[in-house]
Amino acid sequence: MTTYVSSTSKKRLLLGVTGGIAAYKVAELARLLTQNGIDVHTIMTESAHHFIGPVTFQSLTGNPVYTDLWGANAAANMAHINLSRNADMILVAPASANFIAKLANGIADDLLTTLCLARDCPLMIAPAMNRQMWENPATQRNLSVLRHDNIKIIGPACGEQACGETGMGRMSEACELAEAVRSALQAKNLLRNKKVLVTAGPTFEAIDAVRGLTNKSSGKMGYAIAQAAVEAGAKVTLVSGPTCLMPPAVDTLINVVSAAEMLHAVQAQIEQIDIFIGVAAVADYRAAEVNQQKLKKTNEKMLLELIPNPDILMTVSNLPKPPFCVGFAAETQDLEKNAEIKRKKKKLPLLVANLAQYAIASDEVELVLIDDNGKHILPKATKLQQAQHLINHIHLLYKRKDNLA
Ligand code: C5P
Repeated sequence: MTTYVSSTSKKRLLLGVTGGIAAYKVAELARLLTQNGIDVHTIMTESAHHFIGPVTFQSLTGNPVYTDLWGANAAANMAHINLSRNADMILVAPASANFIAKLANGIADDLLTTLCLARDCPLMIAPAMNRQMWENPATQRNLSVLRHDNIKIIGPACGEQACGETGMGRMSEACELAEAVRSALQAKNLLRNKKVLVTAGPTFEAIDAVRGLTNKSSGKMGYAIAQAAVEAGAKVTLVSGPTCLMPPAVDTLINVVSAAEMLHAVQAQIEQIDIFIGVAAVADYRAAEVNQQKLKKTNEKMLLELIPNPDILMTVSNLPKPPFCVGFAAETQDLEKNAEIKRKKKKLPLLVANLAQYAIASDEVELVLIDDNGKHILPKATKLQQAQHLINHIHLLYKRKDNLA
């Protein structure tokens, strides 16, 4: 009988290898991960055997290699449960188009797909395939399902392929994958069991039955932060204004339209919240009167009376026992000066500043974090990478505050 006991300090990673020529690069990955002190257990699909032998992984990781759902070495034939029981993470590299399709559809017809379905740990995949397979709408559809299911996709890169063609589909290099695993394992428990509420997107303030006031926020930053908080083990509530984005797999998603609805949703949750991150671009004003019918066009001047909306973040930070509050400031000029004024006014331990003209709707952004110790610049990177840095920073400040309390 095989027992699966992991040492308490070592992180346990299940490394899934599917059939693709990039499997040869995964031998190097297994070596790097093992060298980094990670306890690596390899699971190969049947077709992976055509590209690389199990002995290679066994030698490099010092652990047996698994292939068979029905193997005699599986305790009571429950290998899928036992192997994933204490796993901190599963990485599948290379992830073939066929494996991705099965994963997207919940198919469990071999040990690796069964393990992935029976897991309760994060799953990361490194796709590798011919460029046409990558571009095929079926593959792209499957990948968007995986993103929605909160499965992290690393790569692929563009370049020369084993088939002689050039394009998207080359698996990321072993060192990049090892780094992605290291940072994901590190992030995994940072906010474990902490309750995080994120507001995201714009608000829409109706003027009449069809028109309204809104702003250009895409919601990408707020959604990336919600996603990074989920990855860090937090229980996440996302209160979102109207966006066109697929939401991350948060615990609670509340869709709202106006600032008043957003405030109401936040107030209903806030008592249980440890960390509040106000990313939403809340409209500062709303129409004093909302016309139930569509207003008719005339040739006359029209005056619209606006009244200020409540400041949701300030309402939260002024509570007698506020959660740890993080605000955002999108400025078009004097970024740091205006941001610090805002931080003081809203009584925030941390404020994230960015230049609105570069940040809105873009996929990459430079951020400045401003806290009691000064400013920290996060050079331009994707919104998800910035969100992960931000979560690390929030964790540091939150821990410090907790120790002082
Ligand atoms: O004052 P300003 O709108 O620039 O402040 C931005 C920060 O305040 C963001 O974190 C935003 O989510 C929050 N905010 C809010 N309610 C408002 C206006 C801004 O929560 N009505």
